Amino acid sequence: MSYQNQKISDAAAELKEMAASKDGLKRRSEILNGPLLRGLYAEIRQLPAEERAAFGQEVNRLKNELEAELDRLSAEAETEGRAPIDITAPFDVNVPQAERPQLLPADAGSEHPLMTELELVLDIFYRMGFNAVESREIDDDYHMFGALNFPEGHPARDDYDTFMTEQTDTAGKPLIAPAHTSTMQNRVLKKYAGNLEKGDPIACLIPGRVFRNEDLDARHEHTFYQLEGVYVGKGVHAGMLIATLKTFLQEYYGKELEVKTQPFYFPFTEPSFEFALSCPFCDKKGCNVCSYSGWIELLGCGMIHPNVLREGGIDPEVYTGFAWGCGLDRLVLMKYGIEDIRHFESGKLDFLRQFA
Ligand code: DAH
Repeated sequence: MSYQNQKISDAAAELKEMAASKDGLKRRSEILNGPLLRGLYAEIRQLPAEERAAFGQEVNRLKNELEAELDRLSAEAETEGRAPIDITAPFDVNVPQAERPQLLPADAGSEHPLMTELELVLDIFYRMGFNAVESREIDDDYHMFGALNFPEGHPARDDYDTFMTEQTDTAGKPLIAPAHTSTMQNRVLKKYAGNLEKGDPIACLIPGRVFRNEDLDARHEHTFYQLEGVYVGKGVHAGMLIATLKTFLQEYYGKELEVKTQPFYFPFTEPSFEFALSCPFCDKKGCNVCSYSGWIELLGCGMIHPNVLREGGIDPEVYTGFAWGCGLDRLVLMKYGIEDIRHFESGKLDFLRQFA
C-alpha cells in the first residue's frame, strides 16, 4: 500500500519492518502506540487546515493496516507447525448422488440405545403416576452438596470425584459438572410443593447425564446417565420405596425379580440403603453379568433426610419421602448382556448398529 505523503510513507516502511521482525508480535503496542505513529497524529494539528483531512486519513489507514498485519501474523504464529486440514471431499462432489460413496447415509441412522431405553423407563414411571424433569449438565456447589446436607468440608463430598470448572458461581465456588442427578432434588421439592397442599404427592423422575472423574474400566465410565426418583407425601415409608423400585424393575425386565436392601450411608437420606436385585440376566444361576453372585447391587436410595426436605421448604414433621438414584447405563447393560459400559459413549457404529 502506498502513501501520498513522504513522511507517512517512510514511517510505514519502518513500522512494517518492525512488525515483520522476529519479535514483531511482542512489539505490538510499540508499533501501534509508539512515538512514530503518535508523532504523525500530533502533526495533524499543526498542518494548514486544507491539508489536515488528507493527511489524517492516510495516518488512520496506516494504523488500520498495521493492526491487520499484526493480527495476520499472530494468527499465522498460532497455527505454525500444525498440519493443515484437507477440506476437499474424498470424492467428486459433482457426480450424481447415486454414484457417490455412501459414507453415512442418513436413512441408516438410529436412536441411541440409551435413549430408546430411557423412553421405556419413562413410560413405566408415567404409568405409576410420576412426572419427569430433565436434569442439567452444569450446576453449582449448593445443589450438588449444600442442599443435600453435605456440610462444608464433609468427607463424603470427596466420594463424588467431581469435575469442577475454573469459572465460579455468584458465591465464588467453582461450577460443577453434576456427579449425580440428586442435584435436582431441591428444585423438584420447591417446584412441586403445591402438590402437597392439594393433598397429592410429589412423584418425580429425573433423568440426566452425570460426570465423574473415575478410573475407567468395563464397569466405570466418566459420563453416564442416572435416573433420580423423588416421592414425598403424608405417611410415605420405606416399604413404598422398595415396592416402587421392585415394580419398576419387574416391568422393565418383564419378569419376576427378587430384591434386597442393605444399610448404607448417604448424607441426604436417613436411613440409606443399597438396593440389589436378583440377576435378571441369569435368574440367580450365576453369570459374568452378576460376577457369579446371583445379585446385582443396582442403586442407592433411602428416606429423604429431614434437612433436605426442610431446605426444599417442606415440613418434615408433616411429610416424609423417599428418593433413589439409579444408573441407566447399568440397567441397559444387564438387559442386553453388554460387556463394557464404555461402548455407550464410544460412538462405535458396530455397537450402535446392533440396536438399530
Ligand atoms: N446420588 C447418589 C449417587 O449418585 C445415589 C442416591 C442415593 C440418590 C440415595 C438418591 C438417594 O436420591 O436417596 O451415588
